[in-house]
Amino acid sequence: MRERREELSELARGLARTPKTVSSRYFYNERGSELFEAITRLPEYYLTRAERGLLTRIVSGLIEEVRPRALVELGAGSARKTRILLDAMTEGGRAAVYVPVDVSKDFLLETANRLRDEYPALEVRPEVADMERGLRLAARPQAPCIYALLGSTIGNFTHQEAVRMIAGLTSGMRDGDVFLLGADLRPGAGKSLEALEAAYNDAAGVTAEFNRNLLRVLNARFGTDFDPSRFRHRAWYNADKTRIEMHLEALSAHAVALPGGPVICFQQGETLRTEISCKYDRTAVCSLLRQAGLNPVRWWTDERGRFALALGNMTSEGDSP
Ligand code: TRP
Repeated sequence: MRERREELSELARGLARTPKTVSSRYFYNERGSELFEAITRLPEYYLTRAERGLLTRIVSGLIEEVRPRALVELGAGSARKTRILLDAMTEGGRAAVYVPVDVSKDFLLETANRLRDEYPALEVRPEVADMERGLRLAARPQAPCIYALLGSTIGNFTHQEAVRMIAGLTSGMRDGDVFLLGADLRPGAGKSLEALEAAYNDAAGVTAEFNRNLLRVLNARFGTDFDPSRFRHRAWYNADKTRIEMHLEALSAHAVALPGGPVICFQQGETLRTEISCKYDRTAVCSLLRQAGLNPVRWWTDERGRFALALGNMTSEGDSP
């Protein structure tokens, strides 16, 4: 765990920027994890369903090709779509190892226990880790191993962070291991800008609540006095940067005290950026994988061109997509 003092100065630096920013790490307290689960079930949030449908379609071919004995899942959360992979891996009682990795410890252990009950042939070895800080697994899983980063989590990193994170993984990978990436696609042929933006602006206001919850997490952790009711949720597609940006907009001018630090002034309409969600196309994903030291070997999209899965490995074999 990062030191609180270090985190507080990082928070102060982010709030001194234009626009103001804050690390999205603070979304995921228990309430935040629950709200995010609710987001994945929203009618507007097509990402989870599109990815699950796609994974279901390709899983048997993937498992046949890779013959994995282990699955390492980064940002495992509740591991709902993981079951698609686990079912195929453990078919016929075949033994396998599952290493869910997440920052949220309680949530992770709860998930691990549930999966142990559900899959007797599965060895579950949860690991708590902050992906931003580089991933060093306590024990190297047996090869061949699928390293999976699903749910468009990659989009929440800047390009540089994403390359560094995947490269960190790559350094521990062996021949036969693969990296499976879930990436949300840019608006285009099969996907309207409206549908993309609606996924982050649901009518029921769950995403707004999730966004504002971050302020409560900051208050609890740092003793700040953010008033969530003085902010409204805003999310839009930044076409230049090919990403959704999530902001909290101050409804009126006011100040927020940072304990032991400066007073932070918000103008009316000023925003605090809480998250980015980068969107990709095939070229962008391939170049990301290559920069991280992987060869792109497979590319799949759902039938409506909304979401993609990509596979990278470390050998030069396999046809380039
Ligand atoms: N990985 C998710 C995404 O980029 C995270 C996410 C979905 C999210 N909705 C959000 C993050 C709303 C912040 C606010 O789609």
